[in-house]
Amino acid sequence: MQNSLIKIANDTNLFLKNFIKKQKKTELISAMNYGLFPGGKKIRSKILLDMGSLFKVDYKTLIIVGAAVECIHAYSLIHDDLPCMDNDYLRRGKLSTHIKFGESTAVLAGNSLLTMAFEILTSNDLKVNEKIKVNLIKKLSECSGHLGIAGGQYLDLSFEKKKISKNRIIDMEIRKTGKLFSFCCMAPAIIKKKTLKEINFFGNIGANIGLLFQIADDLIDFKGISKIAGKKTGKDKKKGKATLISLLGYRNAIKYSGRIKSKILKDLKKKHESGSKNINDTLNYILTRQK
Ligand code: IPE
Ligand code: IPE
Ligand code: MG
Ligand code: MG
Ligand code: MG
Repeated sequence: MQNSLIKIANDTNLFLKNFIKKQKKTELISAMNYGLFPGGKKIRSKILLDMGSLFKVDYKTLIIVGAAVECIHAYSLIHDDLPCMDNDYLRRGKLSTHIKFGESTAVLAGNSLLTMAFEILTSNDLKVNEKIKVNLIKKLSECSGHLGIAGGQYLDLSFEKKKISKNRIIDMEIRKTGKLFSFCCMAPAIIKKKTLKEINFFGNIGANIGLLFQIADDLIDFKGISKIAGKKTGKDKKKGKATLISLLGYRNAIKYSGRIKSKILKDLKKKHESGSKNINDTLNYILTRQK
């Protein structure tokens, strides 16, 4: 599992470095590179590859689609750390992008990474036909905007210091984090021109994987060690973030995550009886990781 994540991270970073190298160098490139590299775990790309292998999509195609996802993820982290959002100075073991480069540069570098995702999907590097590219772009933009990351981040901030019901917390976590995982699970089905019903089936599995991932992130914030996590821990409580831990308590949140994991595997088995081994390993990693 760790080895496959390292290989995915190396291949993704190599693609992104070459892609950026081919473009004209601008004033924002340093801040963009800072937010992208050396980069995080590449867990979204791993899910994309796990799902892609069920559909027999080739590795290079999946790495390129994953690179686009990682650009959007990097953008979302740069903005998430800004003073107007979570106001965090530490990310991936180093100073946050706005601390290093200033707020306006961080906002603009974030914007540029968001749009770079779509430059990647429309580039000739991605060898799928144009109709499929349009469908990938449609889904990825949906998952990133007000129906996905941006809308979820809005809810996350507006829920601070309020008592929020379980269903609304789950909805917020699915939007801010789950939707990008949804895209990763849908992309292989889109590439293989599956029916809308099947694409949505995988989108739903992805939303639950993202929810599981966010609960694990909240658990790390609650109990984790900042030096290992590479970001400040213990901050959700201080800010009064609405999480399943703040609502149900630490132990119940762990129990709930176990139930989500079983549901994901049960759903997946309906379609791919034999193919869920990789996903099972990835889900175990998500739940036991320390960073
Ligand atoms: C952190 O995501 C933000 C959340 C959505 C919880 P990751 O934990 O995937 O961040 P990196 O990319 O590994 O740093
Ligand atoms: C971030 O969630 C989700 C995003 C979409 C960026 P968090 O705010 O919990 O992520 P960390 O803990 O700062 O990485
Ligand atoms: Mg946040
Ligand atoms: Mg944050
Ligand atoms: Mg967090």
